[in-house]
Amino acid sequence: MTHASELPTPDTHALQHSQRLQDYIIDKIAVAGGAIPFHDFMQYALYAPQLGYYSAGAHKFGEGGDFITAPELSPLFAECLANQVQQVLKTLPDGIILEFGAGSGILAAELLLHLQALNSVPQEYWILEISPDLQQRQLKTLQQRVPDLVSRVRWLHELPSTPFKGVVLANEVLDAMPVQRFCVEAEQVLEYYVNFDGKAFVWEMRPAQDAALQSFGEQLRECVPTPYTTERNPYLNAWLQALSEPFQAGVILLIDYGFPAREYYHPQRDTGTLMCHYQHRAHTEPLILLGLQDITAHVDFTAVATAAEAANLEVAAYANQANFLLGCGLTEILLQHADKQEAREYIKLTQQTKILILPSEMGELFKVIALTRDWHEPLLGFVNDDRGRL
Ligand SMILES: C[S@@+](CC[C@H](N)C(=O)[O-])C[C@H]1O[C@@H](n2cnc3c(N)ncnc32)[C@H](O)[C@@H]1O
Repeated sequence: MTHASELPTPDTHALQHSQRLQDYIIDKIAVAGGAIPFHDFMQYALYAPQLGYYSAGAHKFGEGGDFITAPELSPLFAECLANQVQQVLKTLPDGIILEFGAGSGILAAELLLHLQALNSVPQEYWILEISPDLQQRQLKTLQQRVPDLVSRVRWLHELPSTPFKGVVLANEVLDAMPVQRFCVEAEQVLEYYVNFDGKAFVWEMRPAQDAALQSFGEQLRECVPTPYTTERNPYLNAWLQALSEPFQAGVILLIDYGFPAREYYHPQRDTGTLMCHYQHRAHTEPLILLGLQDITAHVDFTAVATAAEAANLEVAAYANQANFLLGCGLTEILLQHADKQEAREYIKLTQQTKILILPSEMGELFKVIALTRDWHEPLLGFVNDDRGRL
């Protein structure tokens, strides 16, 4: 973890961009007549049109960016996922793939390539991406990597209103949704608001107004010491409900870093899980580097399961990333590469494998949850189903 004072200084162009976003948020604070809740601040910092971290042109992913995700890290991730997707599409031959928040487009491109090799390319691959900048980047990646398959890809602006079947994917999307930040005190539940003091954004604590947050905080008080600061995703229920409506049959795979509620709201985790990423440095100060850094919170997978059940989806399986990828055939895939690749390339793949599956890297922190409708087969990636922990 890096201390905020040790972060690299942005260049002039980046600082000017950041200043424009700062002015935009100061206006929002003025319109609100005072401080705004942190989840609104996070929404603007990440998604303000043309200015937010995801909406504007910051590089974001990979070595030249701020952080690296599993599909960016290794082609093996998409190759494993393709096996799981193929299992579903075989049973639902007219099924489509819907990917939320497709980032640079690398997962879409590689999935399509592997599904082609497995004779299972879906008629359509839909991408629902809220960042226009990333939509452009995804199109470019797909045109370069899978020119003969790009015609199957369609960008949606909202969820379809007509029913569809197939596979829904969201890798590291839930952690990029704005969260409420709050503090459970002995007598009250306080919500973190953000104000501007003339020089910088500053925290302001106010009694929680949102009834759901208030009641969540009060229940939490039974199990944690006070004061206890943490987060909660207020958009999860509505998001899963909206997705559930047109989803007729198939499997929704949500992949992200996080824990079941018991571990998430652990008594010792009393400063929450809020994390910022800037040029591959992780730190905990979301009120600086506006528009230049990612802001995330870990995912409470118990809340995901509860929201899924409320939306009439079945919580079919849950596993950590290591078990999921091994279930999808990671070892066999790696062995096939050993025969095909040059030694140097193969060594690279083995190093990437370690990062994907070691418990000290991504293997344990990242989880995969499978939500289904009208689906009755055991899923390939979940031989070691761990729903009992949710
Ligand atoms: C951390 S990035 C992950 C990108 C990619 N899935 C990957 O693994 O490399 C988060 C992505 O989710 C998108 N996003 C965030 N909230 C979203 C939502 N509600 N619907 C669709 N996309 C969303 C962002 O614009 C961005 O593309």
